This record gives sequence, structure tokens and C-alpha cells, in this order.
Amino acid sequence: MPHRYRRLRASETIRDLVRETNLTANDLLQPFFVIDGKNKKEAIPSMPGIFRFSVDLLLKDIEAYVRSGGRGGVFFGVSRQKDTSGKYAYASNSPVVAAVKAVKKHFPDFLVVTDVCLCAYMSHGHCGIVEGGKINNDKTLPVLSRMALAHAQAGADMVAPSDMMDYRVSAIRQTLNKEHFEDVGILSYAVKYSSAYYGPFRDAAHSAPGFGDRKTYQMDPANSREALKEARRDIEEGADMVMVKPVLAYLDIVALLRRELNVPIVGYNVSGEYSMVKAASNNGWVDEKTIVLETLTSIKRAGADLIITYHAKDALKWI
Ligand code: PBG
Ligand code: ZN
Repeated sequence: MPHRYRRLRASETIRDLVRETNLTANDLLQPFFVIDGKNKKEAIPSMPGIFRFSVDLLLKDIEAYVRSGGRGGVFFGVSRQKDTSGKYAYASNSPVVAAVKAVKKHFPDFLVVTDVCLCAYMSHGHCGIVEGGKINNDKTLPVLSRMALAHAQAGADMVAPSDMMDYRVSAIRQTLNKEHFEDVGILSYAVKYSSAYYGPFRDAAHSAPGFGDRKTYQMDPANSREALKEARRDIEEGADMVMVKPVLAYLDIVALLRRELNVPIVGYNVSGEYSMVKAASNNGWVDEKTIVLETLTSIKRAGADLIITYHAKDALKWI
């Protein structure tokens, strides 16, 4: 009996020394929701602990986050102004543009990634231009490009298109290059499944589709070959990093992309995944700290280089 596996589990010290996966502040990005106005902090009932902030209070929240070791975030605009052209998405006075400018001014080293999508700015709640009841892919591309450009002009380090239109990465890359923003990166939501796990986010961002669903542009949860195809295509089009979203029901996809590709892989631990953990822990059914660290570790173990998670600010206090 030469092998006794329990030797390497016998003490905290040996367990720490042989651990294969370690979670650090360099693995995490926190999402932030930004609204218009001043002195506003709105609770999101389906996401306990997450708020929509006006820019002034957002800065306070980020200051605390940076103090606990936070390195960066993904910024989502929540807009009261909506139409069918998507023009509020690229307005030079949008809450996201104001947030990016303020955050980069006060925290120049904080990595600012902006979500680029039209759903929060459309009266019908879809991620693209709607014509005759259908999402028009190619008419959406220039609007997304203008939105990405507005974020780049405000000082964003990276833009993250989440719309799932074909060829949006190359459209955005070309626009940014033409306007001399070749140093602004693209984190593509390359592998984004049509998922019930986005439910709480759509409350948070007021971005639920007003008719139909997103199945003509987001991926079928049953498909993994398609994931590789989407991610490869986005890298060819100029994506610097690719994302898998949601992440927990799709850890096999993270592992697949990690094996096949050589760019950083980002896992998005989405709103529904967060809310389920919060609901269970607020009921005392699971231990929040242990379950969050176990969950985030699993995402990293599967092969993610970075994790976008609403738990980031809590996790930083625990690691
Ligand atoms: C918008 C967008 C969504 C998410 C990120 N960007 C929602 C959707 O596609 O309906 C989901 C994030 C989350 O659930 O935490 N395109
Ligand atoms: Zn969208």
C-alpha cells in the first residue's frame, strides 16, 4: 500500500502547499451598474448586495473596492431613455461615458471594461436593430461601433460586445483603429448562450426583450462545437480575450476553449448564478463564504484566466 493520499491532506499547511488552483485579486472583475443623476443608490431586489449607482456614489463604491484589492470592473449603463434607433447607447452624455471618465480620472490603474450592447437603450429590449419583427444583424453593426467608440473616447481600456451579432468584433475593431484607438482592447462575449440565468440582470438593467426571446442571436445551450467556432471567429476578427457566459453550467466549454485557444478565457458568473447563491445563503441553507470561494475556484480550475462575478467584492475580503 504505497499510496496514501491523505498524507497530502493532513494539515492546513500541506494542503496550502500542494493546492493546484489559487484565487487572487488578479482573477476577478466586478460588474457595476450606472445610472443618471446624483446621490443615487438603488437596490436591485433580485440581486441582494448589488446596486445601481449614480457616478458620484459609484466612485465611493469603487474606492472601497480598490482598497480591498480590486483591479477592474465591467460597466453597464442603465438608461431611462430608450427608442428603436439605439442612439442613446452612443450618447456622449450617457451614464456609462460619465462613469468611465470619472473612474479613469480618479483610479487611472483600474481596468475599465464597458459592456457594448443595445438592449438597455432599446424600447423593445432587443440587442440589435429590429426591422419587420426581426433583428437586423448588419444594420446593428454601425450602432455598436459608435457605442464602442464613445466608450473608447471616454477612456475605456477595453470594450466588451455582448450583443451576439455576427461580425461585430471586426466592425468595432475597424472603427476603433480608424479613430486611432488601436490600443483599446476587445473582450468578446464570444460564447454567450441563451440562458435563464440572465433573469435578475434584466431586472437590474431594465433590458428584458419586449417580444419574443434572444434565441435567434444567443447560442443554444446544447451546443459545444459551435462555441469553438464562435470563439475562433472572434479571435480572427480581432478579439483580445473571449468570454464564456454563463459559466457554471458551461465549465466544459471553458475547458474546451482553454485547450484549443491561446488567448485569455474569461468566465462570466452571471446574475442568476449569483442570486441563487445569495438566496440560499440568506436563508441559512448554505455557507456563503465557503460556497462562493468553492464556486470561483471551480471556474479557475476549469481554465478561466479571469472571472467576472458579482461576488468579487466579497471574495476579495475572503481570499
Ligand atoms: C446584455 C447583457 C446581458 C448580460 C450581460 N450583458 C443580458 C442578456 O443578454 O439578456 C447578462 C449578465 C448577467 O446575467 O449577469 N446583452
Ligand atoms: Zn443586449
